[in-house]
Amino acid sequence: MPPYISLVIIDRDAAARKSIEAFCQNLGDTIKVICSEDNFLEGLKCIQASNPTVVILGVDDLEKGIEDIRTILTRFPRISVFVASSEKNSDWILRLMRAGAVEYLLKPIESMELTEALQKVGRLWIPKQTEPVREGKVISVYNPTGGMGTTTIAVNLAASLANGKEKVALVDLNFFGGDVATFLDVNPKYTLSSVTTNITRLDANFLMSVMTKHASGVYVLTEPLEVDETANITPEQIQRLLAFLKGVFTYIVIDTGGPLYGCNMVGFRASDYILFNTVLNLPALKNAKRYLHAMDRQGLHKDKVKLVISRYLPRADIKIDDAEKVLDYKVFVSIPNEYADVIASINKGVPVVNLQGRSPVSKAISTLAEMVRK
Ligand SMILES: Nc1ncnc2c1ncn2[C@@H]1O[C@H](COP(=O)(O)OP(=O)(O)OP(=O)(O)O)[C@@H](O)[C@H]1O
Ligand SMILES: [Mg+2]
Repeated sequence: MPPYISLVIIDRDAAARKSIEAFCQNLGDTIKVICSEDNFLEGLKCIQASNPTVVILGVDDLEKGIEDIRTILTRFPRISVFVASSEKNSDWILRLMRAGAVEYLLKPIESMELTEALQKVGRLWIPKQTEPVREGKVISVYNPTGGMGTTTIAVNLAASLANGKEKVALVDLNFFGGDVATFLDVNPKYTLSSVTTNITRLDANFLMSVMTKHASGVYVLTEPLEVDETANITPEQIQRLLAFLKGVFTYIVIDTGGPLYGCNMVGFRASDYILFNTVLNLPALKNAKRYLHAMDRQGLHKDKVKLVISRYLPRADIKIDDAEKVLDYKVFVSIPNEYADVIASINKGVPVVNLQGRSPVSKAISTLAEMVRK
């Protein structure tokens, strides 16, 4: 049985409240009006006590309306706020939506309009904190210096996990030159900065509307389109975003590179696995050693940091054994060097695992997916 929607109504307009209550009664078990208040502070108390799915807020004063929405969303960011108002002015609509309202219902409220608004929330309903919360697994794929096949692993791992019909998100944290959009040939209208600049109105509806669904089934959140937008993204925002994604997705794969602080560190702390990826050559291994040590010092230990060898050639001078000894890490998985398969996949914008299931790369990635599933 789908969970019911719980509703708090706050409106000085008694007639409007009555009509919403009557409408909800007709919907039977699918919706429950927890309380209906004419006073904002009383309404807020009720929200705190009941943690509803939706609040319908009557607004007859623009500035107060904006303030009330912000008050609700700062304290209860998962709630969907619908505004009910008789004001048709588009400036009101815009400013109230910007403050975080997800619907603007014009009074007298049409039952059709209210049904549609509630359906949107109902379809994407996510568990409330009081119920057993689903915790998605976060897997970061990382090499600080880049050019090692990190994006190839992240994209294919996400596509492979999505093959199992699980809900998978892929987040590109390479703020200054992410490639996920190119690898998947998607042209997102919204990006990471669309989410972070609207972090206070983050709910499942909003999140799904800004994430781009790729044909592989993966939901993608790419780096900002304009590089200067990245300056405003804070670690706190990323932390909040990841916590939210964990409630919605079964797996969240992060593609990242660069320093061991800031947004990356927040991503690593939230990760169940950090797949540290390197190729087997001397400069790469030297860097890997420095970074693996630093990660260990930062509390990111072997229980979650896993060594992945990229572009592996069995006949190369440096062997897996050598790398394991130098780095003091066991190799979790190695991804074979198959340039033709990988480059064809990148050029077509289709993951190797979808394009060539029999490629040795696809087989290695499937093994990797099985290991992180455990
Ligand atoms: N398993 C592989 N076999 C052969 N070539 C590969 C493999 N993986 C990646 N490559 C090649 O290496 C190049 C870099 O790969 P990728 O973009 O995945 O690395 P990256 O570490 O994400 O790089 P960047 O620093 O640009 O983010 C790709 O263009 C691809 O041609
Ligand atoms: Mg990359």
